[in-house]
Amino acid sequence: AKEPVRVLVTGAAGQIGYALVPLIARGAMLGPDQPVILHMLDIVPAAESLNGVKMELVDAAFPLLKGVLATTDVVEACTGVNIAVMVGGFPRKEGMERKDVMSKNVSIYKSQASALEKHAATNCKVLVVANPANTNALILKEFAPSIPEKNITCLTRLDHNRALGQISERLNIQVSDVRNAIIWGNHSSTQYPDVSHATVTTQDGEKPVHELVADEGWLRGDFITTVQQRGAAIIKARKFSSALSAASSACDHIRDWVLGTPQGTWVSMGVYSDGSYDVPAGLIYSFPVTCVDGEWSIVQGSLLKPETGLCGVRPLGKGWSRTYFAPARETMRGRRTKDR
Ligand code: NAI
Repeated sequence: AKEPVRVLVTGAAGQIGYALVPLIARGAMLGPDQPVILHMLDIVPAAESLNGVKMELVDAAFPLLKGVLATTDVVEACTGVNIAVMVGGFPRKEGMERKDVMSKNVSIYKSQASALEKHAATNCKVLVVANPANTNALILKEFAPSIPEKNITCLTRLDHNRALGQISERLNIQVSDVRNAIIWGNHSSTQYPDVSHATVTTQDGEKPVHELVADEGWLRGDFITTVQQRGAAIIKARKFSSALSAASSACDHIRDWVLGTPQGTWVSMGVYSDGSYDVPAGLIYSFPVTCVDGEWSIVQGSLLKPETGLCGVRPLGKGWSRTYFAPARETMRGRRTKDR
C-alpha cells in the first residue's frame, strides 16, 4: 500500500475548505489509490466550526482518508505536509484599500511561510488560493527563501476552466473536448483569457476554437469579459463567492502538477516567472504550463503573448506596500478592481 500523503488546507472552515476537503479525501486531488492525511488549519474564532468539519469527515468514512488533524496552531498544521493548499487569508472587503489587505496578508503569510519552511516535508508543493492570490504567493515565497521557487504557485486554473466552460457552452460541445486555453497574468479582473491557441476535438480531428466559433467579435469581447467577470457573476447569483468550482480547480491544479498533464495538453498555473514571454523574472504570473514528474514548465515556442500590460506582482523596492501594487497597471491608474 502507498504511504499516505499529508495535505494541508488553510482556511479549512471556510466555504472553499468545506468543498475542498471531501474532494481530497475522495482522491480527486491525488488519485483514487493515494491515501491522504488531512491537516486543516483555521483561526481561533473558527475552531469550533473547523472541528465540525472534522466530525463530518469522520462521518463520511472515506476509505482513502487515513487521518485528520484540525488545528489553529500553524506549526502543528504545517509539520510534515507534502502539499499545502493556502485558502485562508484576509480577503478584500468593501471600502478596503489594496494596501490594507496587503499588510494583513503579509503578516499571515509571513508566519505561514516560515512554518512551512521549517516544518513541511522536503519538496512540499504549495498552491495559494487566497486572494490576492499572486501577491500572497509572492509574500510566501519571500518569507520562505529555502523553499524552491518552483514549488510555490497560485491558482488560475479556475479561470482556465471557466474559459473552457464558456467555449463548450458556446459551441454546445463537451468541455472535455476543449483544451489549451491560456490565462495570462494575475488572478483578478486584469487577467487575459486567451483561446487563440485552443482547440476542440471533433469527429474530423482537432480544430482551432476560432475556426469553430467564427465570431472574432465574441472571442475578443464578451468571451473575455465573461471569464474576467465570472467571479462577480457568481457572487451576484449565489450571494457567496465561487467555492465548489474553486475547490475543484485546486484539485485539478495539484493533480496535474503531481501526476502530469495529458500529452498535448497545457494548463494555466500562476508561477514564478523566469522571464519567458518578456514577463519580468520574479513576477508571479499565470502562464501555460505542462507538467511531467512533478515539475511544471512554461510552454515555449511560437506562441505569441498578447498585449496585456504588466499585471503580475513583484518586490521592487524596500516597502512591501509600494512594492505590491506598483507594477499593477490598474492600481497605477488608480482604478480599483476586485480579486475573486
Ligand atoms: P471564507 O471566508 O469562507 O473562508 C476563509 C477561511 O480562512 C475562514 O474560515 C477564515 O477563518 C480562514 N482564515 C482567515 N485567516 C486565516 C489565517 N490566518 N489562517 C488560517 N485560516 C484563516 O472564504 P472562501 O470563500 O473559502 O475563500 C477563501 C479565499 O479564496 C478568499 O481569499 C477568496 O477570495 C479566494 N478565492 C480564490 C479563487 C481563485 O481562483 N484563486 C477563487 C475563489 C476564491
